[in-house]
Amino acid sequence: MQENAMTVAVALDMSLGESPVWSVARQTLYWVDINNGHVYAWRPQDGGAPTRIALGEKVGCVAIADSGLVAAATSGILRLAAEGEPERLADNPECKNEWRKEGEKGRGNRFNDGRCDAAGRLWVGTIASDEASPTAALYCLDRGELTRRLTGIGISNGLAFSPDRRWLYHTDSLTRRILRYPFDVDTGALGEGHIWVDLEALGLPGVPDGAAVDSEGCYWSALYDGGRIVRFSPEGELMAEYEVPCPHPTMVAFGGPDLSTLYITTATQHLDAEGEARWPMAGSLLQMKAGVEGLAEPSFGA
Ligand code: BGC
Ligand code: CA
Repeated sequence: MQENAMTVAVALDMSLGESPVWSVARQTLYWVDINNGHVYAWRPQDGGAPTRIALGEKVGCVAIADSGLVAAATSGILRLAAEGEPERLADNPECKNEWRKEGEKGRGNRFNDGRCDAAGRLWVGTIASDEASPTAALYCLDRGELTRRLTGIGISNGLAFSPDRRWLYHTDSLTRRILRYPFDVDTGALGEGHIWVDLEALGLPGVPDGAAVDSEGCYWSALYDGGRIVRFSPEGELMAEYEVPCPHPTMVAFGGPDLSTLYITTATQHLDAEGEARWPMAGSLLQMKAGVEGLAEPSFGA
């Protein structure tokens, strides 16, 4: 286990912090609290508190857009401009139509982890409402059209791309395996996936959750319920492990002026009162010096 100190960047009490993403142009980190439907924005160099908006429904992830963000909420994919009402870009095909009336219960699967590829397509997966059955899928939103690209998934997570754009990384967290698919950034086509990392075989705890790739092509994965961040080489070798001061880190992002601060979102949703007392940093946004630079995130529709 490496000794890099992990500290609190922003003290929060999030239920399910997720989807940190850094905008180089705005020098701003965005992230969400999925369960509370919150979208956060924070400029660390300003030294102040983050701003927060409430979407009124769960939100699985956000990505940078030319002006503002896109958000994959339960009901569908929304464009959040700096001002005005959200614009609906696509409906969630796995969400029952009555979701508005029935509230969060019984409305089907919600969107979960996602990110943009270098051509500006949004790749975003869903999570089975029971977090167990293989009813979820991975989708791609490309020039206004949402298409289903992988099926039979329980919890879609860990989406990332290699710096040379030749690989798409993805996991169904339930399998404890990370797969890698040959990827054609010009057409958006995926080749046949193969198992790239198997936590079982490596004796690693927890499940692979969100991830980010660094400028050396290494994949940083948050092990949910494993209390650590692990770094894999492009060949899938375990290169480093970083202990997190709580059991449920969810995702990582490189940010800061030189893209070398690792931001880590965390969750409290699976902690009881004893766990919350034992892990006071759970639910906060954490940070660590990564020792390597990240990659700039592409914008939606770019
Ligand atoms: C999901 C959570 C889930 C976690 C671990 C996250 O991406 O949003 O609901 O508990 O992954 O599988
Ligand atoms: Ca996730």
